[in-house]
Amino acid sequence: MSQESTKQVTFVVQRYNPEQDSHPGLQEFSVPFSHGMTVLDGLIYIKENLDSTLAFRTSCRMGICGACGVLVNNYPHLACHTQVEEFHASTLTVKPLPNHPHIKDLVVDLTLMFQNHKAVKPYAIHRQAQEVESPTAEYAQSPQELKDFLQFAYCIKCGICVAACPTSASDKLFLGPQALGQCFRYCADNRDEGQQQRLAAVDKDHGIWHCHLAGACSESCPKGVDPAFAIQLLKRRLAAEAIGLGKKQQPPKLVSPPKETKPKVAVPPFNVQTK
Ligand code: SF4
Ligand code: FES
Repeated sequence: MSQESTKQVTFVVQRYNPEQDSHPGLQEFSVPFSHGMTVLDGLIYIKENLDSTLAFRTSCRMGICGACGVLVNNYPHLACHTQVEEFHASTLTVKPLPNHPHIKDLVVDLTLMFQNHKAVKPYAIHRQAQEVESPTAEYAQSPQELKDFLQFAYCIKCGICVAACPTSASDKLFLGPQALGQCFRYCADNRDEGQQQRLAAVDKDHGIWHCHLAGACSESCPKGVDPAFAIQLLKRRLAAEAIGLGKKQQPPKLVSPPKETKPKVAVPPFNVQTK
């Protein structure tokens, strides 16, 4: 056995089973360390080798699905995107994300976050229903127009920004940085015509004005989305609207689909060799 695999790291994991426990407790597990292992690798090791009842969420293991958010040493991280070595410590404390209702062990309920996300209408809204039903052309978007919102489109809805947000901690009804950031993402999309509806959805009690620009959301976001910046840009749009200086949303440009497209590369035949 290599020297690397004999090294151990202690995972102190929060356990809570609402059917048995009156309050959460901590449980220690000793996990073999290997270079490059992630926090998620450690949790999977525990589940497969030490305690199969440990509950946590994971799916893609590559920082894309947003399922594996946890608090590691009291800071929110994606477990699959965070290496144990980053902490320069032999003990890691792993707890569920705060500011979301707790279900079991490391699993939290993201329902409220998704309801808030839905409330800001996270899709392009078009006034021409006929064009949506039976498209005759494509909506044009220049590289610069794409750049106006691209950074904010990288949100994977992991809920980490909400877990880091001090306003979400003190106001359970606050829309939260995830929903507010996505509100700006769609308002900034030149193909969209729904800004008025979205601004009305955030300009209310527990809405955008409850953001005090702590910036914890942007600092913690594993995808570099910067929701705090999006929220400030959204506030600027609201303020401009309020004093009559808001830019009128222009109808999206329609262009005919390209006549010539690159030829598709033929898929090579796939043959399974059987001895
Ligand atoms: S803004 Fe960042 S931290 Fe918040 S849900 Fe999206 S990806 Fe996660
Ligand atoms: S498992 Fe999908 S983001 Fe971590």
